[in-house]
Amino acid sequence: MTPPRHFLGLDTIEPALLRRLVDAGLALKRARLQGGAERHPLGGKSLALIFEKQSTRTRVSFEIAMRQLGGDALVLNSNESQISRGETPADTARVLSRYVDAIMIRALRHETLSELAAYASVPVINGLTDRSHPCQLIADVMTFEEHRGAIKGRVIAWLGDGNNVAATWVQAAARFDFTLRLGCPAPLRLRADVLAWAKAEGARVELCPRAEDAVEGADCVVTDTWVSMGDAPDKPIDLLRAFQVNEAIMARAAPRAIFLHCLPATRGQEVSAGVIDGPASVVWDEAENRVHAQKAILLYCLAPEALP
Ligand code: CP
Ligand code: NVA
Repeated sequence: MTPPRHFLGLDTIEPALLRRLVDAGLALKRARLQGGAERHPLGGKSLALIFEKQSTRTRVSFEIAMRQLGGDALVLNSNESQISRGETPADTARVLSRYVDAIMIRALRHETLSELAAYASVPVINGLTDRSHPCQLIADVMTFEEHRGAIKGRVIAWLGDGNNVAATWVQAAARFDFTLRLGCPAPLRLRADVLAWAKAEGARVELCPRAEDAVEGADCVVTDTWVSMGDAPDKPIDLLRAFQVNEAIMARAAPRAIFLHCLPATRGQEVSAGVIDGPASVVWDEAENRVHAQKAILLYCLAPEALP
């Protein structure tokens, strides 16, 4: 039996395929905006969405993506299912594989995603774990390229917490061949294994102790919440104050630099209201692009012949 086409992380997928997914997402968006005949390549297919943590964008964009492709989606909140009573990811995977054609999971622990994928006979999609958020990065690269052209060779600055989304930007720097400057306080820097992976891949990832150095001349400035779902309550977020994205920081970036944030945002913490609600911000396009990115990912998993 051919193994299912999982979407688990940018580190486990070849650069050419990731490039294809970004291009497909952009083509699917254009097709949707132009109107015309709807294609339903996923007619009769079902997707289960498992949530061990909250979500707005990921849940809605996957549900809508399945509908736009002619398929169906159902949500399984872990606290309303046997998952929260201890049924293993392996058993959950084996059972759901008999009901649905693909499974997306937002997991507290990355190991849950890995176990689910090891035992599922249908494709499994990473909808965010404590380590990564690969679906988000397909939408983010799409958004950069819509506004500023090819991302290859460009400079992206990440300011703030060295979290799951930052780790996925590191993986993206390797896969899409751009420079990533990381402005993170040392105690909240990225996991060493992610930085070691990037080095082994030859990625251009620079650690910048000062926010000002990270953003100097950058084409894009990115941040994320200082408190991720599942973070320890005693996280030293005061260390992050020097890494807020505000008007003074954006003024150091390239003249047409854009601002990205996966959302949800806390104005006054990781970003000032003036930046997220200002002219450089493309965060609503970024959120919109989640739908089209999910469609590209779902087609790759379930009907690759239908990828545009
Ligand atoms: N960016 C993102 O994944 O948002 P949600 O947590 O709302 O899904
Ligand atoms: N880093 C955030 C991203 C939310 C989409 C979290 O994990 O909570």
